[in-house]
Amino acid sequence: MSAGPRTMQPILGYLRLGVNIDHVATLRNARGGRHPDPLRAAHLAVEAGADGITAHLREDRRHISDADITRLKSELTRPLNLEMAATDEMLAIALKHVPNACCLVPERREERTTEGGLNVSTAGPHLARIIGLLKDKGIRVSLFIEADAKAIEASARLGADIVELHTGAYCERALDDDATGMAHELSRIATAARLGAETGLEVHAGHGLTYNTVAAVARLPQVVELNIGHFLVGEAVFGGLDKAIRRMRTLMDGARLPAAGGSG
Ligand code: PXP
Repeated sequence: MSAGPRTMQPILGYLRLGVNIDHVATLRNARGGRHPDPLRAAHLAVEAGADGITAHLREDRRHISDADITRLKSELTRPLNLEMAATDEMLAIALKHVPNACCLVPERREERTTEGGLNVSTAGPHLARIIGLLKDKGIRVSLFIEADAKAIEASARLGADIVELHTGAYCERALDDDATGMAHELSRIATAARLGAETGLEVHAGHGLTYNTVAAVARLPQVVELNIGHFLVGEAVFGGLDKAIRRMRTLMDGARLPAAGGSG
């Protein structure tokens, strides 16, 4: 065997990064003009290592607009993941634009962000119909759910391709410096990720992730994509979006290396 130079190979599969650009639009909308442009941010994100772009078209259009979705769909060079509520209005928009994927999320007007996962366990025929119509059009369907066995099983029954596990509670415990709470939440996410993969679902994760919380989630072997937005846009204020995304990408890649404790 040759004793040539060795590079550390990731023992886990590649972890995709979807950059959520909603809050570039939040900043733009604060003045009602065109700056900063979410599409420009999306191009920059791709150059910095994003594998896809995520945008949430909310019912109240508080950040991303219909025109943003049109521009993103026609100009993006990477897959677009359209986050949306499971409503007929959003369904029509998704069927018109045909993004690579739709992530169905719960939506309440009074919330500041997507606070919890979809209530899939008690979902009726309405959700199943929306999933079916999206899939018929070739759109991959993801359900944003709590890290919970019942939600995973219900997602599979409903015909979803993907589950995105809500990491918000884990990240909140981190903000509170609650190590026990973090370990508990992380273990729920790890168990759900295993169950999701065993059930044949593709597993994604996201919400609230930062430089401090990303590695533990990135290390979960079944997770193949993370969607991250608010923290990256916040960091961009201090050092630029390019630098923030590159650093996040490096932390994600590092977490997949054997030295980081990742295992199959
Ligand atoms: N994934 C989903 C389904 C979301 O709704 C959001 C927030 O829009 C994110 C990921 C990204 O969360 P954050 O902006 O906190 O990184």
